[in-house]
Amino acid sequence: MLGNQGDSAKRKSLHGHWSSRMAFILAVTGSAVGLGNIWKFPYIAGQNGGGAFVLVYLVCVAIIGMPVMMSEILIGRRGRRNPVATMALLGQEEGGSEKWRWVGGMGVAAGVLILSYYSVIAGWTLAYTVKSATGAFAGASAESVSQQFNNFVGDWRLIGLCHTAFMGLSIFVVARGVERGLEQAVRFMVPALLLLLLLLLGYSMTSGFFQQGLAFMFTPDFDRLTWNSVLAALGQAFFTLSIGMGAIMAYGAYLPEETSITGSSAAVVVADTAIAMLAGLAIFPLVFANNLNPGDGPGLVFDTLPLAFGQMAGGVFFSTVFFVLLSFAAWTSAIGLMEPAVAWIVERFHHTRAQAAVMIGLLIWLLGVGSVLSFNVLSDFRFLAGTIFDNVDYLTSNIMLPLGGLLIVVFAGWVMCRNSTSDELGTSGLWFSAWRVMARFIAPIGILLVLVNAVR
Ligand code: TRP
Repeated sequence: MLGNQGDSAKRKSLHGHWSSRMAFILAVTGSAVGLGNIWKFPYIAGQNGGGAFVLVYLVCVAIIGMPVMMSEILIGRRGRRNPVATMALLGQEEGGSEKWRWVGGMGVAAGVLILSYYSVIAGWTLAYTVKSATGAFAGASAESVSQQFNNFVGDWRLIGLCHTAFMGLSIFVVARGVERGLEQAVRFMVPALLLLLLLLLGYSMTSGFFQQGLAFMFTPDFDRLTWNSVLAALGQAFFTLSIGMGAIMAYGAYLPEETSITGSSAAVVVADTAIAMLAGLAIFPLVFANNLNPGDGPGLVFDTLPLAFGQMAGGVFFSTVFFVLLSFAAWTSAIGLMEPAVAWIVERFHHTRAQAAVMIGLLIWLLGVGSVLSFNVLSDFRFLAGTIFDNVDYLTSNIMLPLGGLLIVVFAGWVMCRNSTSDELGTSGLWFSAWRVMARFIAPIGILLVLVNAVR
């Protein structure tokens, strides 16, 4: 079954295939839509001054995110293995070097590192589900909500417990294999999340500060834009689309031959971007209405949304549902973050899926302790980008993902032969030429320019 060199169209994945095109789109959307859209986008945009950052982010999504996503899917489907083995195999076939496996290896590492802090924040959403349901935010003032947040993250035992619970949930699903239940979850989760965001948006519009929110998000002030915020925008584009680390490559490995890569990518990119924009539009008016600071950092949505729900009719219900949905969104992303590492361990060391999930999960849990402590015991322990949490985030989003993305587009655009890529994309027409120009020139030059200028 393996090693059918030169006959790549007939390679089969060891882990089975998606049941339909819709199943694939749902799985990729489930990985893309997560804390990145609702927790991270607003606070990163806030820290980087709003408008100009949002504009750069949108440009990065369109001209870099889209070609990287397409490249990842096509590489994954052609190789049909875990990202490390796929890059080694195609590297050998197309470019005569197995060294490309290191691109897959960096992706495996990035997934592990990202999930180590992602799980901590996902643990907060679990706890906020419980707090919402027990009415902790009903009618609460801004001071009370932010006081509750500070007390909560200040308690390392409590947020450590939440982190442990979330990792347990993730290990559980990955161990059982990415199965139907999950597809069903995404099918209803994304539309439901969209509905609740629209409800929040409606509330924001009546807050009297909608204009300020809009202006903050969409009036670009380029004087405030530094190379570092351009890098943050690029990193956020990669993070939110789940690209640059082989996760989409791993999902692409299970994609049926006849599915359109361009169409699927476009659907995911549009859905993901729409949800981030809605989250921003719902949150910033509330920030200004309550005299909060948009640059406040990771606590931003945990300070604004409970406050809004607390003042709404039916707020206890909506708030609970919202945090349940956000936990689900984080859960479907966590699975994607673990998949490259787990698929690699299964194929390389012949462990069972369950063993691999437990091993990788424990490693991630342990690394996550650093992020748990970053909000309390070790909050004053700062180096380079800040706390341990800040450093893991900076290293992964701003360095590893863009670098991985750069190597992936260069591989697809320059190393793979034209025929292999047009074969996978299923066309040699206009869409193919557009992809090829973006993958060969625009995306690599763009990423390099930002990385060099920001890190210098
Ligand atoms: N896109 C996810 C989010 O927005 C986070 C993420 C980054 C991710 N890389 C990933 C999820 C890889 C799955 C796979 O929350």
